[in-house]
Amino acid sequence: MATMTQAQGTPRITAGERAGIPPRRMDFEFPEETTKYWYGDSAFLTTFWVTLSALFPEGETFFVDSVKNYRKDIKDQKLKDEVSGFIGQEALHSKEHEAFNDMAEKHGLPALKLDKELGVLFRLIRKYVPKKMQLALTVALEHYTAIIAEQLLREDFHQEMFRDREALKLWMWHALEENEHKTVAFDVYEQVGGGYLTRVSTMLIGTLVFAVVVVSGHLRLLKADGQLTNWKANWRGLKFLWGWKGLFPRLGRQYFDFYRPGFHPSDHDTEALLESWRQRMLNDGGLLAEQTYSKSRKA
Ligand SMILES: [Fe+2]
Ligand SMILES: [Fe+2]
Repeated sequence: MATMTQAQGTPRITAGERAGIPPRRMDFEFPEETTKYWYGDSAFLTTFWVTLSALFPEGETFFVDSVKNYRKDIKDQKLKDEVSGFIGQEALHSKEHEAFNDMAEKHGLPALKLDKELGVLFRLIRKYVPKKMQLALTVALEHYTAIIAEQLLREDFHQEMFRDREALKLWMWHALEENEHKTVAFDVYEQVGGGYLTRVSTMLIGTLVFAVVVVSGHLRLLKADGQLTNWKANWRGLKFLWGWKGLFPRLGRQYFDFYRPGFHPSDHDTEALLESWRQRMLNDGGLLAEQTYSKSRKA
């Protein structure tokens, strides 16, 4: 849990580690020979995940900034520590997804362009949208990342779909940490007086904008890949995402839970799930054990 200062050899515990939200440096490497269709051998599904990845660097920078706007107003020491952990984790997620997006570019997928365009949208939001609503947007989008991440961790078939070990490590590491810090933006929002109506109305607007951004980005990646008119394969992919037992319909109950007055992200209990994944990934021989981060940062 603790890191060691070089001079004295004494343990130094960072605020994020103290809060159970330890930023873990990974340094993943994605060489050009990484399997191109690394999710289920499917162009449609791989480009779906690449679309999400393309949105992370600008998206998570916005999340961090919207929380930083209120950092000075947080009185509670525990929440202050959690915010430090949240900022550290999100910064490292952006860094690793940039490396992942560079690999997608090498495969001919314009991920950097999508990220740049999202940056323009977020610059407008920073300029014209009230700060409280910016924070509410982060709360809403963090709910999305938390529930998608929970499904990645909880449902084993996702791991079986990965065709590239480094990609598997990236997405599972990110999924773990999204759930470790899923309450932080929400708690900051409540502590600085954020209300129910702003929270749910921002979620509604955020859902619409998120849908347009993701669907249009996905279509553009498919087009760039020459797969847009591969109807049969795309139909199969669409059913995987939106079919009766598809990825999104299975998120429905958790998504709509957000609209309940009194909802809190910790209502979706992921403690045992996260503990089992921490052991599975960080212990000796685990999925992430070979990474270059300090092994002392296990929890
Ligand atoms: Fe993240
Ligand atoms: Fe997050």
